[in-house]
Amino acid sequence: MKVLLTGGLGYIGSHTAVELIENGFEIDVMDNLYNSSEDVVEKLKQITGKQVKFHKIDLLDMDSMDKMFSEGKYDAVIHFAGLKAVGESTQKPLMYYENNITGTINLLKCMEKYNVNNIIFSSSACVYSDKNVAPFTEDAILNPINPYGRTKYFIEEIIKDYCFANKNFKAVILRYFNPIGAHESGLIGENPNGIPNNLMPYITRVAFGKLKELSVFGNDYDTPDGTGVRDYIHVVDLARGHLAALNKINSFEGYKIYNLGTGHGYSVLDVVNTFNKVCGNKVKYKIVDRRPGDAACVFASPEKALNELGFKTTKELEEMCLSSYNFEKNNK
Ligand code: NAD
Ligand code: UD1
Repeated sequence: MKVLLTGGLGYIGSHTAVELIENGFEIDVMDNLYNSSEDVVEKLKQITGKQVKFHKIDLLDMDSMDKMFSEGKYDAVIHFAGLKAVGESTQKPLMYYENNITGTINLLKCMEKYNVNNIIFSSSACVYSDKNVAPFTEDAILNPINPYGRTKYFIEEIIKDYCFANKNFKAVILRYFNPIGAHESGLIGENPNGIPNNLMPYITRVAFGKLKELSVFGNDYDTPDGTGVRDYIHVVDLARGHLAALNKINSFEGYKIYNLGTGHGYSVLDVVNTFNKVCGNKVKYKIVDRRPGDAACVFASPEKALNELGFKTTKELEEMCLSSYNFEKNNK
């Protein structure tokens, strides 16, 4: 099976590339390098021993997309490419809608033209309403609260409509919870530009003295220790979820939606304390006000992915912290 990974040099795409190559899939990777670096192509080779074919192409560049598809003969696409910074999306909504939604429509048009009928799409737990009570099942109420989240919601709807119109087309929509961690080689991982918004990249930068201390956003939530609870999933487990989805895509019609999470919630202080335990007390923190828009407690029901895809996570919080630490150490 030959698979195209859009956004395949990014954090989740690169880890998925490794899993696919190691499981015998032929892959091409396309990315516009907006939030990644071409060095990752070499890192993928170092990890897998295989040269990956890379196309530096933007989803919005229809001519280049068409050419890639005309030559690629793909059986499936895993669609990671997109902008993902929540705060930025509130400042630049048009950029987010154009890149994520127009980009996806361009991709679907190419898939239609070249008769590529299988897609796996990177959606997010942020499509769920925070009024749901965890664990979140796939039929929980949807209500994304920022433009980034709405791009994910709208793309889900576009894919569903297209599946309805084209009976040969199949889609797996994966709603990721909170991916953290890095490949055990320490060669690939999450490396956001500027000051990170997300918890783990902030923690690793404090650990290496690039940032002074972590601000814990609120300790007065209705959770066991008062800090926010999330479902952190190791990025290698998450990557394997795509493999499970690809292996099942021929066994159903239309679209399927699955959560990818562990089903366990950890608080901010659980993460900080575990990190300090396995990486040597490096992270100081202070409690500050809540961050606007944050929910108290979000974690997945992983049952549907387990029952239908046979997907089960294997990696614990300790390993997530240690691998994140090792990646930051290698990239100091
Ligand atoms: P990432 O930014 O590391 O990777 C996305 C890649 O897409 C980047 O390499 C970027 O250069 C590329 N890209 C963006 N716009 C493009 C365009 N127009 N044309 C070509 N390439 C383009 O992000 P990630 O963490 O690997 O996330 C992958 C996907 O998963 C995204 O769609 C993201 O919204 C979604 N997601 C991520 C998380 C998370 O916490 N990381 C959670 C839920 C969902
Ligand atoms: C955020 C986004 C979500 C996106 C997800 C993955 C918001 C409101 N939500 O989710 O849409 O899908 O990232 O990219 O931005 N925390 C701190 N201090 C920090 C950073 C975070 O205490 O410096 C806390 C947060 O309050 C939260 C937890 O850590 O309780 C996790 O935060 P984060 O990593 O940003 O993920 P989410 O808020 O779940």
